[in-house]
Amino acid sequence: MAITQLADTARVQAELIEEIRELRARRNAVILAHNYQIGPIQDLADFVGDSLGLSRKAAATDAEVIVFCGVHFMAETAAILAPNKTVLLPDLGAGCSLADSMNVENLRRWKADHPDAVVVTYVNTSAEVKAESDYCCTSGNALKVVESIPADREILFGPDFFLGSWIQKVTGRKMHIWMGECHVHAGILPTDVATQRRLHPEAELLVHPECGCTSSVLYYLEDGTIPAERSAVLSTEGMVHRAQSSDAPEFLVATEVGVLHRMQQQNPTKRFLPVNPEAVCGFMKRITLENTRDALLHMRHHIQVPADVAERARLAIERMVALA
Ligand code: 13P
Ligand code: SF4
Repeated sequence: MAITQLADTARVQAELIEEIRELRARRNAVILAHNYQIGPIQDLADFVGDSLGLSRKAAATDAEVIVFCGVHFMAETAAILAPNKTVLLPDLGAGCSLADSMNVENLRRWKADHPDAVVVTYVNTSAEVKAESDYCCTSGNALKVVESIPADREILFGPDFFLGSWIQKVTGRKMHIWMGECHVHAGILPTDVATQRRLHPEAELLVHPECGCTSSVLYYLEDGTIPAERSAVLSTEGMVHRAQSSDAPEFLVATEVGVLHRMQQQNPTKRFLPVNPEAVCGFMKRITLENTRDALLHMRHHIQVPADVAERARLAIERMVALA
């Protein structure tokens, strides 16, 4: 891009950010952004975090309006936890392939086959699916949630197959696991990990449990191929914390690439490399400075959950937030 074009783009961006700041103050709004959002959105947000942290912030805020820079199920969760606030999602097309891999009819049929089972669903689900669940969990507390269920109870876990298999392996707890996946994380393959480890043998390895490579990483941890002290399976926020607390100079990061923004900002002397640089969530990237400005300007798109669904989903979500 020519220098004058770059200067124009920077000027437009600075003007948009200024407009968003003014509108945020005028509307008494708070901007919550997921770790996969583009850098400029993360930089102007009031809070950036993982699904669990964002749910907790939504529940605690005293702002009147929550602009949710994330995907639809996250905004729905905020609307359930903060029923008296106006929750806005800047683009209704910000969905989630994982949430779409289980609908409420699928879940009802599954429950009918296992009438005595406890149902644990990941936060990446619709409000209707949450309303049919006993517990909701995120990558940040899935282990705690499963461990809190009495050992003699049968468990249905969904919709993420890789996360479910990881929990099963770590806890030794047998569960029925739904065969859903996130197309972005499923595309981070064992071969990607192997290639990057060959190129960067000393780097610390951070893996999100939704990844297609999670099981093989656990296998390599067990047989000692990957040293346990230089690797971890974590939520996105867990990765951000680990990047700060570890003294490793270099990290391989297996999740959506957006999380590298904060890691690099907070640790300028450390090096962060994506295990798969093509792991980009197009749904998360639908949120832009323009549609965030428009959300505040036109108060759109208002995410509302029918009261009866919200009522039933709230219990499962509150259990998730309590087990943080
Ligand atoms: P985290 O809760 O770890 O941020 O994950 C959310 C998500 O959508 C992962 O793809
Ligand atoms: Fe959904 Fe995957 Fe995107 Fe996360 S990265 S929002 S799980 S599609």
